[in-house]
Amino acid sequence: MTQLVLAPMEGLVDWRVRQLLSAVGGFDQCVTEFIRVSQTLFPAHVFYRYCPELHQGGTTASGQPVLVQLMGHDPQLLGENAAFAVELGAPGIDINFGCPSKTVNKREAGASLLKCPENLFNIIRAVRAAVPAHIPVSGKIRLGYADKTLFLENARAVEEGGAQHLTVHARTKLEGYKPPAHWEYLARIREVLSIPMTANGEIWTLEDYIRCRNISGCTSFMLGRGAIACPDLAARIKAFETGEAPVKQSWADVLGILLAYIDLLAADGATENHQAGRIKQWVSMMRKGHSAAATCFDEIKRIRDIHDLRAKLTEDRDKPENRHHDKLIAA
Ligand SMILES: Cc1cc2nc3c(=O)[nH]c(=O)nc-3n(C[C@H](O)[C@H](O)[C@H](O)COP(=O)(O)O)c2cc1C
Repeated sequence: MTQLVLAPMEGLVDWRVRQLLSAVGGFDQCVTEFIRVSQTLFPAHVFYRYCPELHQGGTTASGQPVLVQLMGHDPQLLGENAAFAVELGAPGIDINFGCPSKTVNKREAGASLLKCPENLFNIIRAVRAAVPAHIPVSGKIRLGYADKTLFLENARAVEEGGAQHLTVHARTKLEGYKPPAHWEYLARIREVLSIPMTANGEIWTLEDYIRCRNISGCTSFMLGRGAIACPDLAARIKAFETGEAPVKQSWADVLGILLAYIDLLAADGATENHQAGRIKQWVSMMRKGHSAAATCFDEIKRIRDIHDLRAKLTEDRDKPENRHHDKLIAA
């Protein structure tokens, strides 16, 4: 059975986006944005800020478990924070070994740890030892830092450290987010691992998913920017796999999600500027998925007032021509 995970995306996939996308369907699991652990054991409110789902058993409103993702370099401190997150209700802990950010990498965290597999082993082992045995620990890696020479060693280090699961973003740190993703490496990692593995990188369409599945041989997939660009991507993949009627989200449905996002942001006290910024960011990213998004973005990009923005999205949502299935853009 195909498993689909909504990718952690800092500054983009907060609890509201997790709630909205998981309600569309198709996703089995989510992961929080990374929580940067560098010097302290965080107080509870920090974990609740990144993962308010901890107040409701660690799952989204529609029931998908939300793993808490930590990023750092100090095995013991990561272990202490992981143990506390679990005490607060985290159903699993994921460790980030893929972040390419310069500030993060100067301090030896994220992707720079991939330069030495022992780093991964030590961190996973400490986190595994710190949390109860029934709580899964996973690692999320890239294929390497500057090149791919250590891709198998890094994957093995995560398994040997005691992780229950590995996610691989099929690019190096230097490759950033540039296509292609090298799915063929995932098949090679799968051959040497006994723990289950999730394939990640560059799945924008159902066709990409099918190619990634065929090349990697994986049955679990993490969707990042593709799910932001097309909120029904996971549901369409699931329908394809189960033989159910394909989901057909109209542009009006997508606009409905954006309007619901404004409501969630407003209810939470986000400033009007922040609300408008998040909506423009999302519509901008939808241009890679929905043909209607380009026009929409051009029309909203100069609207500053959130009330005007809401009115414009509502007007478009209610136009009869937007109730048809929007043309999707192949990546
Ligand atoms: C804006 C942005 C923020 C991200 N934040 C995180 C993060 O907090 N933790 C993480 O492990 N990966 C993060 N990633 C990487 C994604 O989880 C994913 O591995 C990457 O986008 C590749 O998948 P995709 O091609 O489906 O987007 C981020 C990516 C983007 C574009």
